[in-house]
Amino acid sequence: MSLLETPPMTDVEGPSRNPAVNEWVADVAALTKPDRIVWCDGSTQEWDALTKSMVAQGTLIRLNPEWRPNSFLARSDPADVARVEDRTFICSERESDAGPTNNWRDPFVMREELTELFAGSMRGRTMYVVPFSMGPLGGPISQLGVQLTDSPYVVVSMQLMTRMGVGALDLIGPETPWVPALHSVGAPLVDDAGVRHADVAWPHNPTKYISHFPETREIWSFGSGYGGNALLGKKCFALRIASVMARDEGWLAEHMLIIKVTPPAGTVRHIAAAFPSACGKTNLAMLNPSIPGWKVETIGDDIAWMRPGPDGKLRAINPERGFFGVAPGTGITTNPTAVDTVWGNTIFTNVALRDDGDVWWEGLTPQAPAHLLDWQGNDWTPDAATPAAHPNSRFTVTADQCPSIASDWDSPEGVVIDAIVFGGRRPSTVPLVSQARDWTHGVFMGATMASETTAAAEGTVGRLRHDPFAMLPFCGYDMADYFAHWLEIGETLGADAPPVFQVNWFRKDENGRFLWPGFSENARVIEWIVGRLDGSLDAISTPIGKLPLVRDIDVAGLDLGYEQLQALLAVDRSAWLVEAEEIASYFDELGGQRIPAPLRHELASLRAHLR
Ligand code: GTP
Ligand code: SPV
Ligand code: MN
Repeated sequence: MSLLETPPMTDVEGPSRNPAVNEWVADVAALTKPDRIVWCDGSTQEWDALTKSMVAQGTLIRLNPEWRPNSFLARSDPADVARVEDRTFICSERESDAGPTNNWRDPFVMREELTELFAGSMRGRTMYVVPFSMGPLGGPISQLGVQLTDSPYVVVSMQLMTRMGVGALDLIGPETPWVPALHSVGAPLVDDAGVRHADVAWPHNPTKYISHFPETREIWSFGSGYGGNALLGKKCFALRIASVMARDEGWLAEHMLIIKVTPPAGTVRHIAAAFPSACGKTNLAMLNPSIPGWKVETIGDDIAWMRPGPDGKLRAINPERGFFGVAPGTGITTNPTAVDTVWGNTIFTNVALRDDGDVWWEGLTPQAPAHLLDWQGNDWTPDAATPAAHPNSRFTVTADQCPSIASDWDSPEGVVIDAIVFGGRRPSTVPLVSQARDWTHGVFMGATMASETTAAAEGTVGRLRHDPFAMLPFCGYDMADYFAHWLEIGETLGADAPPVFQVNWFRKDENGRFLWPGFSENARVIEWIVGRLDGSLDAISTPIGKLPLVRDIDVAGLDLGYEQLQALLAVDRSAWLVEAEEIASYFDELGGQRIPAPLRHELASLRAHLR
C-alpha cells in the first residue's frame, strides 16, 4: 500500500507535480466523502495488500495456488455483468457532435445530475487515486490519465491492464495533458443518517451512468464495477475519448487487435483487425497457425492507436498492458496460448470454481468437471440448464505473460501496419475473405460492417446489427464524421495506405453449423492476405471486392469439401442486393447526405454492379 495516504480535504497539496491533479482529487473527495484517500503506486506490495483485503471482504476468492498461483475469482452481482450501452453517454456541447449512434446529454445537465449522484457516494469507503498511462510510459503516442475509484477490484485490474502507479504519476508534470476519470460503484457504506452498513461482495448501483465529456476529455462513471464500465482506461479513454483526440489530431483510435505475422519465407507483416466485442480478436491475436512454417505473435488484442509516422507509413501501438479476455470458448484446443497466459497472476471474473480450487468455463476442456460452483456460487453439474460460467466471464492478465507476445509489442513508436482487416459474426452473405479495391472501398467495408450481438453488452444476444468499424459502442463522436476522418487519413497516407480486407469466420450452412473450422485454421486466410500483400496471388473482381480463387485457399489437411469452400466464398447476388438496401437505410439513419460522398458513391456502384 502506498505510504502517501492523506486525510481528505487537508489542503490541495498532494503528491502530483500537477496542481490540477491535486485540486481535482481534493474536490472529488469533498464531493464523494470517502473515509480516506490512497494514492496508488502500482507496487507488488499494493497488489498483495489489496487482494488480501478483498479476500477477507469476500470480493475475491483466492484460487488454489498449486494450480493457479497469485490468482483470484471475483463474482459480480448478476445485475452488473457487462457493458451497459443504453447507459453510455456522449456529452458533447452540440448534440450533432455525438451523432445518431450515441446517447447524447447536455454536458451542463449531465454534470449537475452526476454531481448529485456522486455526492457522498464514497462514504465509508477508500478513494483510490490511480495514475495510469495508456501506451508505454513516456512514449510519443502514449496518453496519461488519473482514475479515482472506490473499487479495489478496479485498482488491481487497472494494475494489470494499464501502466499504473508512480511511473505514470511522475510523468504528469504541471503542463502535461491528462484525462480525469472519475469512478464510483455508487454504494456508500454510511447512509444519510450516518449509520454504517456492512459491505457486500460486489457493490454496485442499479442506476448506472458511463458518461464522457469529449471537449474537456473527462470521464464520469457511476454505478458499475464491471469491465469497460469501470476500468476507465479501456473503452472510455482509449476508444471514446481517444477517438475524439484522434479526430482532432489526425490519428486513429480503434477497436482492433494487432499481430505480427512471419511467413515461412518472405517479409514480416503486421496486421490490425477490427471485430466487434466477443467476435474473435483475442483469438486471432494469439493465433496458433495450423499451417507449417507460419508464426503469429501478439501485439494487442483489443485496441490499436494508429498514426502516420515520420516515414509516412501507418504505425500502431497497443495502448493496453494486459488482456481482459472472454473466458467461454477459450480452450486448450481453440486458444491454447490464452490458456497458457492465465497460468497465474490472473483475476477471473464470473467463471466457475472447481472443487480443487481452480477455475473452469464452457469450452476450456471438452468435458465439464462432474461438479462445480457456478459463477454465482451455486452447485452445478453438467446436466444443469444454465452455463457454469457467465457468457461474458473474463480473465484479466498482463500481456507479458502471453507466450506468443512479440518482443517489440511495447515499442513506444509502434509497428508499421501492412494490412487492415474488418470482420464480424455473419451467418450468411459475407464471404470468408475478400479484399477492398482501394482505401475508399476499404472504408466502405468498415462503415458497412454488421455483426450478431454478443454477451459483451447487456441486451439480446444474436441479433444482427450494424457495427461500423466494430466501433458502434465506442466512437466518441458522430459516425458520419468518423467515416470522413478515415477517408482523410487515407489521403494523408496516400500510396502508403495499407490494403484493406474483410473476413468472416462465422458463415453457417443450412443446418446452422459453422462452415469454417476457425481458430488455428484462420491462419489459412492470413496466408491468402499475405499472398495478396506480396503480389503472389491473383484475385477475382466482384461487385463486393476482390475474392480468392477457390484453389488459392490452402485447405490441405482440412475436412472441408470443394463445395463447402465454394459456399464460404460465394457472393450471392440476391442476398447482397438485400444487404445493399440495408446499407442504404442505415446510411440514412446515420444522416443521409452527411455520409461522405465517396462512400455514397461506393454504395451506388455496389447497387449498379449487383444489378
Ligand atoms: P472483446 O474482448 O469483447 O472485444 O472480444 P474479442 O473480439 O477479443 O473476442 P474473443 O477473441 O475473446 O472471442 C470471443 C468468442 O468468439 C469466444 O467464445 C471464441 O471461442 C469465439 N471465436 C473466436 N474465434 C473464433 C473462430 O475462428 N471461429 C468460431 N466459430 N468462434 C470463434
Ligand atoms: C468489449 O466489450 O469489447 C470488451 C470488454 O473488450 S469491455 O472491456 O467490458 O468493454
Ligand atoms: Mn473489446
